[in-house]
Parts: sequence; structure tokens; C-alpha cells
Amino acid sequence: MTKVDQVQLSPSGPSLSRIVAGTMTWGEWGSDFPAPKMAEMIGHCLDLGITSFDHADIYGHYATEEVFGRALNELGTSVRAQMELITKCGIRLETSRRPDNRLKSYDLSRDYIIASAERSLKNLHTDYLDVFLLHRPSPLMDPAEVAEAFAHLEQSGKVRAFGVSNFTPSQFQLLSQSVTLVTNQVECHPLHPDCFYDGTFDQLLGANIRPMIWSPLGGAQYFKSESTSVLRLRDTVKNLAKKYGDVGEDVILLAWLLKHPVGPIPVVGTTKKSRLGATRLALELDLETQDWFAILEAAVGHEVA
Ligand SMILES: NC(=O)c1ccc[n+]([C@@H]2O[C@H](COP(=O)([O-])OP(=O)(O)OC[C@H]3O[C@@H](n4cnc5c(N)ncnc54)[C@H](OP(=O)(O)O)[C@@H]3O)[C@@H](O)[C@H]2O)c1
Repeated sequence: MTKVDQVQLSPSGPSLSRIVAGTMTWGEWGSDFPAPKMAEMIGHCLDLGITSFDHADIYGHYATEEVFGRALNELGTSVRAQMELITKCGIRLETSRRPDNRLKSYDLSRDYIIASAERSLKNLHTDYLDVFLLHRPSPLMDPAEVAEAFAHLEQSGKVRAFGVSNFTPSQFQLLSQSVTLVTNQVECHPLHPDCFYDGTFDQLLGANIRPMIWSPLGGAQYFKSESTSVLRLRDTVKNLAKKYGDVGEDVILLAWLLKHPVGPIPVVGTTKKSRLGATRLALELDLETQDWFAILEAAVGHEVA
């Protein structure tokens, strides 16, 4: 099977692999891989052509980046040039590792953004981040302060490109007046198709910017939930999985996302090597348009108007 190829995120943005590996459940918030196992996962991803890795400072209660960094050390210095590292900042979680965080809140102040990037660089054992994202919009966000932080990080060579996550189209537009954004990382799957209708994808398509998609399988909701809508969706997807050559249901769900003209880049959350490998099938699977709508109809419970 061919390797996952690279695509450019935006006109001025970097290239990422067409499928990105999400690390949220690689650490304490999931499989709790020690550094050698993480090194094995990273090596496996690189062999598949999955060269881009999605982090956030908060994953594993602020611990996962550091284990990943030790894994990079184990793999040797040449590995960094073969990969793209994405991480996020701005959420303050209450945890014993951050005694200053008195409650869950957001902080997009200049100093917090810069300090967060510097801490992620140290944890990841790297000199630069390929893409640095604001994890969530804050009601207190001041675009001028964000711009100051981004300019400082760019000029010092610490960050190569900037983006956001979970921003509404108007928040994205507002910040775009002050800084160049290369992506909006958002949730999208058949059970949460809001981006098709709320202007998020329209805006990005118009600007030739690819969204990164978190929870492309609904964070396993698709596999775990027994709700009527999920059971109905699973029935449809299973039938299509047979039709398209007995592929996995996750492959059909990824192919469903990839069909959108905005050019979504799924951030897959699996911790299983075999499932990572199978994602490549989705890149080669062109769902018929009526099958795409059959999935949408099954998920939302009614035909389109
Ligand atoms: N920007 C944000 O606000 C935000 C929010 C959430 C997540 N993220 C990013 O998005 C990434 C992906 O999120 P996610 O983990 O919610 O993604 P997801 O890919 O929708 O869900 C992953 C979950 O599905 C399970 N799964 C996958 N294939 C399966 C199958 N064939 N059968 C049964 N279970 C299956 C995985 O279990 P196994 O591990 O056992 O395969 C894992 O628990 C995260 O790692 C993170 O990088 C970003």
C-alpha cells in the first residue's frame, strides 16, 4: 500500500501528512505509553508516511509532551527533520502539576502564549514547532496581544506557523486581521456535521485553508454508543464497508470526511498500530455522492430538505 502523502495546509502554511496522528490518548489520558513504546508508535507512523503529530500542552494533564520528547531522544536527532510537530496552548487545567491553575479557564495573554510555547519546546525536546494553535477561543482574547506573542515566537525561530482550534468563523476572521492563520482545528464527523452549516468550512474553502479535524470518529462515540442515531449510522456504515471491499467502518468514516472539497486533514486518535495502517485505505476510497448522503441521513435521522 502506498504511503500517506503530504498536503499544504494553506497558501503560506507548511505541508502536513494527509492523515495526522493525534497523541491525546498516547499518554496518561489513554494508553499511558512509556517512552520506548511511544518511540515505537512514532517510528510506525513515519513508516506509513504519517509524519505529522498533534499535541496539546494539557494532554495527560501536561505530561504527554514530555514522554513524547523522551521518545524523540531515543529515536535520535535525525528523526525531528522527518516530522511536523503541532501543539496547542491556552487552556488552564486544574491539576497538581499546575498549582497556579485555580479553576479550568483560558489564557490567551501575550506572556502566557509565549511561556506555553517555550515549555512545549522544552518538553518535546525540539527547537521549533511547525504549527502552534490556540486551543480554544477565549471571551477575553485580544487580537493585538495574540499578534505580539506570535510575532515574538516567529522572529525567534521558535514557531513556523500559527493557527487556531474550535474558533467560530467570526473569531477566525477577527484574528486573521492581525495574524496569518494556517488552519482551524475543529470537530467534524457524521454525528457532529455543524462545520458544513455554520460557515466554518465555507470560510476555509474560500481562503484555501485546510481544516484539521479532531475526533474524526467522534472520539469512539461511533463504536461505543448504543443510541438510536448511532445504531442507525452503524448499520449504514457497515453496509457501505462491505460494498467498498470489506474495509473497516473507520475507513468509511474517514473517507466520508475526506470527500469534502475543503480538504480536511483528519487527526486520528487511535493507539493501535493496525488501525493507523488501515487509515491509508480511506485516502484511496472515493465514496459515491449518494453514499455520502446516506451516511449523513443516517446520522441526523432525516433526509436533506
Ligand atoms: N483541538 C481540540 O480541541 C481537540 C479535541 C479532542 C481531540 N483533539 C485531537 O484529535 C485527536 C483525535 O481525537 P479522538 O481521540 O477523539 O479521535 P477519534 O479518532 O475520533 O477516536 C479515537 C478513539 O476511537 C477508537 N477507535 C478507533 N478506531 C476504532 C475501531 N475500529 N473500533 C473501535 N474503536 C476504535 C480509538 O481506540 P483505540 O485507541 O483502541 O484504537 C480511540 O479511543 C486527539 O488525539 C487530539 O490530538 C483535539
